[in-house]
Amino acid sequence: MTRPLPTSFSVKSFGCQMNVYDGQRMAEMLEAQGMVAAAPGGLAADADLVVLNTCHIRERAAEKVYSDIGRLTREDGTRPMIAVAGCVAQAEGAEIPRRARTVDIVVGPQAYHRLPAMIADVAAGRPALDTDMPRLDKFSALPARRRVSPSAFLTVQEGCDKFCTYCVVPYTRGAEISRSWRALLDEARALVDAGAVEITLLGQNVNAWSGEDDGGRMRGLDGLIRAIDRVPGVRRIRYMTSHPQDMTDGLIAAHGDVETLMPFLHLPVQSGSDRVLKAMNRKHDVASYLRILDRVRAARPDIALSSDFIVGFPSETESEFEDTLRLVQTAGYASAFSFKFSARPGTPAAAMAGHVPEDVMNVRLQHLQAGITRGQLAFNQRSVGIATTIMIERDGRRPGQRIGKTPWMQSVHVDTDAAMGEMIDVEIVSAGPNSLGGVVRRSAAQAA
Ligand code: 5AD
Ligand code: SF4
Repeated sequence: MTRPLPTSFSVKSFGCQMNVYDGQRMAEMLEAQGMVAAAPGGLAADADLVVLNTCHIRERAAEKVYSDIGRLTREDGTRPMIAVAGCVAQAEGAEIPRRARTVDIVVGPQAYHRLPAMIADVAAGRPALDTDMPRLDKFSALPARRRVSPSAFLTVQEGCDKFCTYCVVPYTRGAEISRSWRALLDEARALVDAGAVEITLLGQNVNAWSGEDDGGRMRGLDGLIRAIDRVPGVRRIRYMTSHPQDMTDGLIAAHGDVETLMPFLHLPVQSGSDRVLKAMNRKHDVASYLRILDRVRAARPDIALSSDFIVGFPSETESEFEDTLRLVQTAGYASAFSFKFSARPGTPAAAMAGHVPEDVMNVRLQHLQAGITRGQLAFNQRSVGIATTIMIERDGRRPGQRIGKTPWMQSVHVDTDAAMGEMIDVEIVSAGPNSLGGVVRRSAAQAA
């Protein structure tokens, strides 16, 4: 059956920031094909084409796509052309259209540059499934960046070779691979030209990035950060997510002397128990992790630290869980994410003995989140009274209010008409667990 080519589209991304980045690049590509965004960022069932850019990391995330697909059929029985992209597409492939018959296109995270051709295939009545992993082809096939928000993402590295026993990423995103120095500096410059002032370097293992610079010298992420620091117009640099094993001396040193590198480090530890860390195949123990934090703090004393945690890993005991609670206290995180273990098909942990009952996981998660929230509040309260610079990112809830980010990733609510992307000086006047209140500081010139 042939179908008309879509003229409007909607892309909805689930999961991590790398998916957000991929979703933006897909939207840019569809726009370059002459299609119009129906509802930027949202799910618009009245679009001709809906792309669901999926996440496979935990079961709950993976199942969301099927409920969304169901909701796309309209009351009159019509529906948009439906494309499932991202990590569920990579992991489940042809299984998706078998389970959800309204899906027209299945395209993996390394193949989405072929989306326009696949759309044409569907319009011509041919099935469209592509879960090849042609490493990095997509980046050179995508259109240049034209219009981005002040805080922009830049994927520098994809995939993972670490094989933590609970994690699907090494299977859905493939082996670690770094984009080239030249391509990244070109894209960083294009992002600034398109309106970015802050660039967040992304990768499943971003600090495993390596590549040759223009002079043919091998460089690590610290070298890339130093080069992006010199791109005119870049005011702030961030990176995520890092693995403790790849926290090199050079990267730690960069935190001490690259002024645009923001004092924030997301360095997941996952558990506070050495036995559990070993079962997770994390390649570090609690003591070696804490030594890294000490060295980062020595280089940059005000650095804000953050982590991910998994509770209820198979055979985790109560006392091992308490070790995690203790680590949260010891490390002094500014923020952290925590998740219940989710058994993912094909991962070693899914087949391990001693699965922890759901109700036990729920209680542990609650305890852990309470501990994390206490830490966040304490961290935020220490900011009250300081003067700092925030970058305006979005509108606040009240009219006349805007929300900006401190160097330490805290959101600050402030009454101002400053434009998006503008850096303004504020004094922090109040703190909650999730955000701060600030007032604009009158500069010396204004006061005179
Ligand atoms: N179950 C629960 N949490 C997981 N994560 C990764 N895989 C799983 C899983 N199977 C968490 C880790 C990781 C974050 C992105 O998601 O904490 O750092
Ligand atoms: Fe998954 Fe571990 Fe790789 Fe992170 S380091 S993506 S948790 S396998």
